[in-house]
Formats: sequence, C-alpha cells, structure tokens
Amino acid sequence: MKGFIFTWAVFLLLSSHVLPSQAMMHRYTFIIKEAPYTRLCSTKNILTVNGLFPGPTVHIREGDTTIIRVHNKGTQNITIHWHGVKQPMYPWSDGPAYITQCPIMPGKSFSQKIRLSDEIGTMWWHAHSDWSRATVHGAIRVYPKRGDTYPFPRPYAEVPITFGEWWKSDVQAVLTEFKSNGGFPNNSDAFLINGQPGDLYPCSKPDTFKLAVEYGKTYMLRMVNAAMNSILFVSIANHKITVVGSDGSYTRPLKTDYVAISPGQTIDCLLEADQKPGHYYMAAKAYDSTTDNTTTTAIIEYIGNYTPSSPPVFPNLPMSNDTKASTNFTWSLRSLARKVDVPTHVDTKLYFTLSVNLRPCEANNTCAGPRGQRLATSINNISFVSPQFDILHAYYYSLRGVFRKNFPRFPPFVFNFTADSLPATLLNPTRDTRVRVLEYNNSVELVFQGTNLVAGIDHPMHLHGHSFYVVGAGIGNHDKEKDPLKYNLVDPPLMNTIAVPKNGWTAIRFKANNPGVWLLHCHLERHLTWGMDMAFLTKNGKLPGQQMLPPPPDAPPC
Ligand code: C2O
Ligand code: CU
Repeated sequence: MKGFIFTWAVFLLLSSHVLPSQAMMHRYTFIIKEAPYTRLCSTKNILTVNGLFPGPTVHIREGDTTIIRVHNKGTQNITIHWHGVKQPMYPWSDGPAYITQCPIMPGKSFSQKIRLSDEIGTMWWHAHSDWSRATVHGAIRVYPKRGDTYPFPRPYAEVPITFGEWWKSDVQAVLTEFKSNGGFPNNSDAFLINGQPGDLYPCSKPDTFKLAVEYGKTYMLRMVNAAMNSILFVSIANHKITVVGSDGSYTRPLKTDYVAISPGQTIDCLLEADQKPGHYYMAAKAYDSTTDNTTTTAIIEYIGNYTPSSPPVFPNLPMSNDTKASTNFTWSLRSLARKVDVPTHVDTKLYFTLSVNLRPCEANNTCAGPRGQRLATSINNISFVSPQFDILHAYYYSLRGVFRKNFPRFPPFVFNFTADSLPATLLNPTRDTRVRVLEYNNSVELVFQGTNLVAGIDHPMHLHGHSFYVVGAGIGNHDKEKDPLKYNLVDPPLMNTIAVPKNGWTAIRFKANNPGVWLLHCHLERHLTWGMDMAFLTKNGKLPGQQMLPPPPDAPPC
C-alpha cells in the first residue's frame, strides 16, 4: 500500500510538471499555524505560514501557474490573497474574504491557483481576512521566461526587503478593540525589515537584518511593503538606488536617494556597492504618521578588511509630513516605453471620492472617535458592509440578497472636497454592499478624489485582478475640463496600488477584460476595516476564452 501511494505521488508530481503550451506548474503547501516569536523583549504566538515570519517566498516564471494547497491548522478563519496576480478568468482563487470566497475554517484546506499572465518582478501574498495579514505574508518572485533576460544588467544577487509592522499585543485583539470602541487602532510598536525591528529599537540589535555586499557588485532589492497602516520612506546612507520595477511591471530606470512605498506596493531596485567599504544603514519610517515616528533599520556591510565607522552611517530620510517628497517619488515612475498599451478612448467614466467619516453614536455603543462618534470610511459616501456569503459565488449561482448592483459612478453630493473646513452634515456615510457592473472589455477611467472630511490623508488604493495605468494626479480637486488635457498617455506607470495624495486626486485607466468579482480598496488596513472598499463585477464576454472558468470543487463553504 505504501509503495502504491509513493508511486502515485511521484506520478502526480511528474505529470504536474508537464503541461501543454510550455507553461510550467509548480506546487506549494501552505500550513497556517501559530508559532512563538520574540520581538522587543516580549514573546507571543503569531499566525504564520509553515512557522515562518515573514512567510515563504514563492518562485515562479512569467506566465506559469502554481497550485498552493492552503491548510488551516490555526484556530481562526482565514483566506489568502495573491497580491498583484491577475488570475485571468479565475477569480475563484483571489482570496478576499466574503468577496470571492468564504474563509477557510480551522482544520480545512483549499487548493488555490496563482495564474499569471504578463506579471514580472516582485509581487506578494497575504492573508485577506481580519488583520491576519500582519504576520501572514510573503513575497512572490516572477522571473523572466526561460531564455529571456532582464531589461537591465543582471544583478549579482537578489535580496528580499519586506517591510512589516509589529504589535507586542495580539493583533486580533487590537482589531477587536478598535472595532468595538469606534476609535483609532493602537499604534504598532515597531516597523520591521525582513521581520526585524533593527538597531534603534530595544532588544533588537543582535538580530538586525544585515546584507553583506562585495565592492563593485550590483544587488537587486525586491521591496514589499507589508506594513499594515503606513506608507514608508526608505533610504540607504551614501547610496543612490535605481528603481527598475514596481507592482509586477518593469519601470523606466529611476535613480533616487529614497523611495516612498505604499502598503501593498512592491518596488524592485538596483543597489550598486560603489562606495567606500564600510557599514551603511538602510532606514525606513512612516510618511504622514501623526504619532508613530519610529525608524526601522538594516545594515549594508561591505566585505573586506577595514575598520567600519561605528555606528554605521545614517541616511537622510524625508520629514514624516513631507507630502512633496512622497508625491515627487510616486509621480516620477514611468513604464518602460516598449510595453505600453494605455486605453486612449474611454467607455466608462467613474469618479470615486475617498473619505474618512463618522457614524453617529447609538445607544449602548462606545464611541471613542472624534466628536464622540465612531470612525468609518467610504467610497462615494458608501461605507462597505461585508456580506455573510461571498459575492462571487452569489453572482455565479444567482443567489439574491447578498449584494446590490449600481454602485454609484459619482459621489452623491458635490462640494469643495478638499476645503479646509467642511460642514458636519457631510460627515455621515450610508452603509451598503454594492458592486459596479462593468461590461466585458470596457475601457474604464477612474478618478479617485481624496476629501478632507474628518482629516485628509493619503489612500493607497489597490485593485484586484488588474493592473492599471496611472495617467494623472494632482493636489486639490480634480478639474474635469483641464486635468485630462495633461494626462500621460505615452508612458504612465502600470500599477496595482497607487497612493492617492492627501487632499488630492489620481486618475487611472484599465480594461475590464477579466470577468469576475474584483475588490477595490484602500490598503491601509484600518481604512479597509472601516469600509473603504467596493467591488467591480465584470461580465463574461461573448467569445470562448472570455468567460469565467468553473468554480473549484473545494471552495470553502460559508
Ligand atoms: Cu494586498 Cu486586497 O490586497
Ligand atoms: Cu485609506
């Protein structure tokens, strides 16, 4: 019997590696389980994949498909999302809880697919239920097809740089507390680089992440911002870095002293070890953080015989509130021109306001938000209410009562969105579960407009199932006559997450060529919890190959 199982397993393994059309199939097993980790002198159990924090890296080649069996050995429900993977025709594996699937219950498994199309570079995976993604996340590396090369000199080595955030207390407890009291969540206790807080935090020095470099060599840093609630400024002392990719696409090389990276975003950059041999800090801190201004560090150490400066040289990071430093970086990104395919005509125009709101305090509620009310967020004044059954299956099986259509194309009230003071009557959103239906292959233009309700702030907006071109952005209100004249339709960057600036706007374009249900949301975790999300429902096309594939038989039941 044993022998039989063994041969069968070997057969499966071999057969899964031979697929028509040259594409390769890879397999991984993700076991969700708790493991004890110690940071900042205190130990707690965290949720992990395979006991690792950060989680395992998934390696794939352009165009390949990977099957990942997710087995939940934890004590709470969970889902896993493959951030930046378009999953053409296959929304079933996308992962956001109650959008494309119900959560995987403890003791249960779900086999998910990573279906690539043209993604290349660095993406990542993370939990997409509650706040589990704080510790349940890892990188996805997509290498060029066999025989293809990078559009830049091949780096000597590739190094993951995953930014994270650490709470000494249990993360689910942080979530439960602010959800029940209606106020802000507790700030994290540290930012992390590759799971480590770094030299500037208590009890952290021996474990600081160190990168040994050889003089004269070039290293590729694959950055992922897996932090929960902060855009980060990142810089390396005495070294410029060259950005060559972001969000699973190549970019025109951009030489810079620092980057601003949003939660959800990935940035690939080249670091040339061309300075005097020594020890240099890489440092990261939050942009526009009102209270949490601590800094996480790693050390770049040249190999060789010399006496390093002690402490290592520290980089110049922009000031925490330097919006210009953030927008200057984000607005300098460009596509590598040879790959651009920006929709030039638009079938569907959408204008979405992004607001922080307040909900009136009801009897028996604690209301720890501003004005004695409860914090909320909204898109077009609708604060998203998560259904109890996932929208994708409800749509596929025509179940009624789970969601409504007609998510509004425009905000219900037009006012000076970015005015310094706004009437309190505008503060309260409505609550609903709505989707916007898109016809197959429509060209969509979507203008995000930040508002100054409660307090203006950046919103890193992320769209599942697509990449989009960022064709324009500015501070203040979007001007529908003048601003479109300045759109970049030549070499705009292709992204899946874009920071809409505080009290400003950003215009994106994409083709609705991926049938399914696709979440759009702010990647600041507290804003997502408060309701800054909605979903697109893209219809099937008429021809074969333009339709959703059938659902997986092992999709978790609700
Ligand atoms: Cu990084 Cu909805 O996800
Ligand atoms: Cu936001």
